[in-house]
Order: sequence, then structure tokens, then C-alpha cells
Amino acid sequence: MTIKKLGIVGFGQMGSGIAQVAAAAGYPVVATDEKDEFLKKGLSRIEGLLNKAIEKGKATEEDKKKTLGNITTTTDLGAFADCDLVIEAIVENLDAKIKIFETIDRVCKPTTIFASNTSSLSITDMAVVTSRRSQFVGMHFFNPVPVMKLVEVVRTIMTDDQSFNDAVAFAESVGKTVVRAKDTCGFVVNLLLIPFLIDAIRWYENGLATKEDIDNGMKLGCAHPMGPLELTDFIGLDTVLYIGEIMFEEFREPRYAPPPLLKRMVKAGYLGRKSGRGFYDYKK
Ligand code: 3HC
Repeated sequence: MTIKKLGIVGFGQMGSGIAQVAAAAGYPVVATDEKDEFLKKGLSRIEGLLNKAIEKGKATEEDKKKTLGNITTTTDLGAFADCDLVIEAIVENLDAKIKIFETIDRVCKPTTIFASNTSSLSITDMAVVTSRRSQFVGMHFFNPVPVMKLVEVVRTIMTDDQSFNDAVAFAESVGKTVVRAKDTCGFVVNLLLIPFLIDAIRWYENGLATKEDIDNGMKLGCAHPMGPLELTDFIGLDTVLYIGEIMFEEFREPRYAPPPLLKRMVKAGYLGRKSGRGFYDYKK
């Protein structure tokens, strides 16, 4: 089956980013969220990015019209009935995700493929609550979605080849490069990235060097676009803590254990860019 119409559950940073790249590639997209205000915010986020691209001469008014024209928003999950692929991009909470998949399983046509954009939860845990276990994959996009070139397409031991290949083909058709992964906690990228970020925080906590020097070390020494502490601020300290905890729970290895400083900072509300303060101050 070829994917012709896309559904997105959750129109936040990730969901709206996925909707934007799919709509720009010509797919009709139906996006849902719990409240109208979240849908409005997502649409204005996309419009703002398109306006910036126009200012820079990287897109035209026509591109903007086409992209926005391909996106329909609604709070009604029933709108997914005729979608060929539905990607869930809500909060990282397994119970909430399960509730969504149980609902859309009743609504969608039998051939619809389901995907979760989870960064660390088990795809298998979500697939088993549906009547389409073999048509269930992980599709892990990266933030900011319009910029980052990668999608991890994840298969469980139940995923059939057709659904997996359709998901891969869809990701490639919106301009992404695919990494194929098994349903292992963290897949490929977070399995390697999270211990690296946790290690950087641990060494900072141990007084190895200043935060600027740790970040510059990796930026200038290894050509990373952001240093590990800057990147943790960008991802969100609460998110890094959450993923670390899930990985530690899964593997029980110290390398995944979130360091005390990370826990204290999250407790204090220092969540990174989104809260105005993390390892760095963003209030200025
Ligand atoms: N949304 C869309 N586009 C954005 C953006 C955003 N939030 N932020 C920046 N951009 C675009 C800019 O418009 C610009 O586009 P252009 O080249 O067409 O003009 C381009 O990105 C570069 O932006 P800037 O010049 O403003 O700034 P930088 O050169 O510093 O790049 C960055 C910003 C792209 C965020 C870069 O610092 C970067 O690549 N950082 C690392 C990001 C990263 O590692 N993301 C993955 C996080 S891990 C993850 O998501 C997995 C999860 O499970 C934890």
C-alpha cells in the first residue's frame, strides 16, 4: 500500500514539525490535539517558520499556501478514519499513548498503519493494545523536525514487512534519511546519545571543567553543532531525565543512571530552554 493521507495525533513541537514536512511534500494531513488552542498554536508555529523561510528566500508564498492548505486540524479523532498512516506524537506517557491507540484502532480503516514518535517507550507495549499488531511501527523524528534529516523507523517482532517498508518509504518521501532499528529501549540514537549527555552532566557535576569548556570541547573538538549541556537544555532536562530513567529501568547499567544534579535541576524547574533556565540562562 502507498501512503496517501497522513494523520497526526498531538500538534506540539514534534507533531507540527512532522505535519509541516509531510504537507510540504504534498501529503494531505489531518492533525488533532486535545484543545483548539493547541491546534492554533501549532499552525502559527508552522506559519512562522514558513514566513522565516520566505524572508530568507528559501520558500515562496505559493509554497506556504500549499503547505498550510494541505493541513486540516480538528479535535475529533474520528477524522483519522481514512488515513493510511497515523503518527502519534503526544507526551511521553505510556498510558496516554495506549488510550489514543485504543481509540483510533476503533476509528481507522483496517489497513491503516500506526506509528509512535516515542523516543524511549516500548513500541511493543503500544502495538499489543490494538487489533493491528503487525501494522505498528516506531517513527522517531528529531527536533527541529524540518531541519533534522533523520527518522528512525522501528519494528517490533510482530511488524510485517509491508507496513515497515511503507513507513520507510513515507519517511524517505518527505526528504528524510531512515535508520532501521529494532524495538530496543532508545533505538539507535538515544541509546548512544543519552549516556553521552548523562556522562557530560556527571563530569560537570564532578568539577572536571566549566560548562562552556565541556560544550566547546565537543563543539570545536568533534564538530558537534551543540555541546552536550547545551543540547540537554535544547531537548529539555526533564526529557533527558525521563529517558535516562526508562533506560536505567530497562538495562540496569550505571551508564544510564541519571546523575543527582540532573534530578535536582529538574526538581528546581530548571528544564532548559523551555523554562528559560537550564545549564544556561535564556531569560536575557
Ligand atoms: N524549527 C525549524 N527550523 C529551525 C529551528 C526550529 N526550531 N531552529 C533553527 N531552525 C533552522 C533555521 O531556520 C535555519 O534554517 P536555514 O538554514 O534554512 O536558514 C537552520 O535551522 C539553522 O538555524 P540557525 O542559523 O538559527 O541556528 P544554528 O545554526 O545554531 O542551528 C540547530 C540551530 C539546527 C538547532 C543546531 O544547533 C542543531 O542542529 N542542534 C542540534 C540539534 C539536535 O541534535 N537535535 C536532536 C535532538 S535529540 C532528539 O530530538 C531526540 C529526542 O528523542 C531526545
